[in-house]
Order: sequence, then structure tokens, then C-alpha cells
Amino acid sequence: MLVLGIESSCDETAAAIVRDGNLILSSEIYSQIDLHRPYGGVVPELASREHLARIRAVVERAIAEAGKDADSIDAVAVTQGPGLVGALLVGVSFAKAFAFGLGIPFVGVNHIEGHVYSVVFDNPPIEFPALALIVSGGHTNLFFIPEEGKYKVISRTRDDAAGEAFDKVAKMLGLGYPGGPVIEKAARSGDASKVKFSRAKISDGRPDFSFSGLKTAVARHIRENSIVPLGPGEEPGREIRDLAASFQHAVVGSLVTTMEKTAVDLNPKTLIVAGGVACNQNLREAATGAASRLGVPVYFPTRHLSTDNAAMIAAAGHAHLMRGERSDLSLTADVTLRLQNFENEDSRLRSKRVRYRL
Ligand code: KG4
Ligand code: ZN
Repeated sequence: MLVLGIESSCDETAAAIVRDGNLILSSEIYSQIDLHRPYGGVVPELASREHLARIRAVVERAIAEAGKDADSIDAVAVTQGPGLVGALLVGVSFAKAFAFGLGIPFVGVNHIEGHVYSVVFDNPPIEFPALALIVSGGHTNLFFIPEEGKYKVISRTRDDAAGEAFDKVAKMLGLGYPGGPVIEKAARSGDASKVKFSRAKISDGRPDFSFSGLKTAVARHIRENSIVPLGPGEEPGREIRDLAASFQHAVVGSLVTTMEKTAVDLNPKTLIVAGGVACNQNLREAATGAASRLGVPVYFPTRHLSTDNAAMIAAAGHAHLMRGERSDLSLTADVTLRLQNFENEDSRLRSKRVRYRL
């Protein structure tokens, strides 16, 4: 079965052709990073316009690169949400028109579920139950997956996503955008023991994440030590490298400690760590250490598949299509689409009037 995947939820216009859910025939990604760099973050209106200008060529290139023609595609999978509404609508509308024109089925996919499926290409098959840590610029969630297609949110972020914290701290230090790779690079020659950050404590005792306090602590450290952010082209000095390393260490520690504790309780057979922040070598090493202590394998996507791409959307879509699921033409973008269909605790939490996004 050949599935065309389409992804346009944020700042990558991507299309891929995937055979039988786990063989990539092509994966095209047009990244808008250069367009948004001057603003230090993604500008939604610019993103939608750029998706619109690029999507047709990106899809055509994916089909050509796979050595196929449009008529040989069996189904289309497209990111329905979460993401930026204008950006999502470009992909959803294109996918609907494409599938309608060819008379083939299509299915809307949750972007976060896509990240879970980013590990299916270069690892042994996932054994369930699995525990998946999905860390990106917009999301930080730990999911329990008792069987394929079932998801329970165990941990969520109460404020910033982990990648967002990397991006904001990089901005404060004048390191550039996106923050993850530049912080990781500066941290490589820094000393993570130089600045001590305390771990956020969640007052209701839930195993959630919180990164905004850490971001504030970094800002305070910059102010109190009169650290001057870098100018264009400047290389970071010792103070900034130590701060970057200490910050990275705090984020990775929080993510991996929570995953390991949860794994002790839930006994998963596979750990999954995916999303843009999973590019981080420090996170990979810490997660690998936790997995070996637990005696279970941990699967990461390759770097190409860690950040947003359409192959992971095609793979997740394939699983839905195999279960006979289809979307119809009434499908539209869903900016706040959730991934939670097993032991959903939202209503119980809502009754306690939680102030954070569920
Ligand atoms: O998954 P992704 O491409 O987009 C979203 O769905 O958000 O993730 C992008 C995020 C950005 O916040 C970026 O700073 C972060 O992933 N990131 C990293 C690294 N590479 C990218 N964070 C930490 N270390 C990295 N090496
Ligand atoms: Zn993503």
C-alpha cells in the first residue's frame, strides 16, 4: 500500500511516499527556518503563505523522487492538527483535493501521533505496552500506549514545551534560532555543573513537566551575573557555554527522570523518544541510560525524522487506514486536536478547575 503523507502544521512543508507503513520511498521537506529566522520564531501568517506557495511542488517532488506517478498512490494521510490554523488548512485542503481528484481514500492524522510513528522506520517493531516521550517546540507529553492506536497522557507540560524553552533561552543568550541545535552546540564545551537549577515541583503531585520557572531562573542568572548576549557572528564565551550546558542538563534531567519513574510503575516493553528535541544527543544518552537500567529498548527516530516530516504522518495514517478508518470531505484543521483515547482523565481534572491546558 502506497501512502502519500502531507505535513504543514508549522514551518515545514513536507510530503512523503511510504510503502506498507514503514518503508520510505521519498521524504521531501521544505523548511521555512530562513524565512522566520529574522523574527526569532515562526510568524503564522508568513508560514501559511509559504505553505501555499510550496505545497504543490513539494508533493510533486515526493512522487517523482519515489519513482511513481500519482495514479499509483493508494491513499493520502494529512496532518489535521494540532498546529497553526492557516498552516494546517493548506495541507488539509490540498490532501482533500488530491484524494478527491484521484478517487482514493484519505485520513486526517494527529501530528503528535505522527511523531510516535517516526520511530517505525529504523527500529525493530514497537512492542506494546509502550511509553512515548514526545518533545518538540510545541509539545511535551509522555504517553502510555497499551496497544497500537490507544493513548493515555501520563505527563504534560504545565507551561512551556521543552523545545520552546530551548528556543527562548537561546534568544536570551543571543545564540540564534532555532534554539535547540545552538544550545546543544554551545553546551558541548560547557560545564553542566556550573549553574545549579532546582527541579520544578508540581504542587498537586502529578507527574507533569514545567519549564517556565527554569526559563525565569536562566533570565535571573543572566541579569545577576551581567552576562551580555552574543552579537551576530560572535562565539559564546565560557559563561554562556556553562549556562547552556547547565540549562540543557536541567531539561534533560526533568524529562528522563519522569519517563524512568513512570516506566517503573507501568512496565512498558518499549520506550520511544521522538519530536524535534529528540535530536539532542544529551537527551538520547540519558534516555539510553534509563532504558538500560530498566532493561527495555528505547527507539529514537533518525535525525531527518526527528523534526517535522511527512513520512511519520504517512506511517501513522497507514495504521489508521489498515483499521479501516477514513476521513470524509468535511474534515477540517483542528488547532487543538488531542491525542488521548484511553483512560482519559480530562473531565476528572477539569472538575478540579485546573488552570493549565489539558
Ligand atoms: O518537532 P519539531 O520540528 O516541531 C514541532 O512540532 O514543534 O520541533 C522543533 C523544536 C524546536 O523547539 C527546536 O529548538 C527543538 O525542536 N530542537 C532541539 C534540537 N533540535 C531541534 N532541541 C534540543 N536539542 C536539539 N538538538
Ligand atoms: Zn512536530
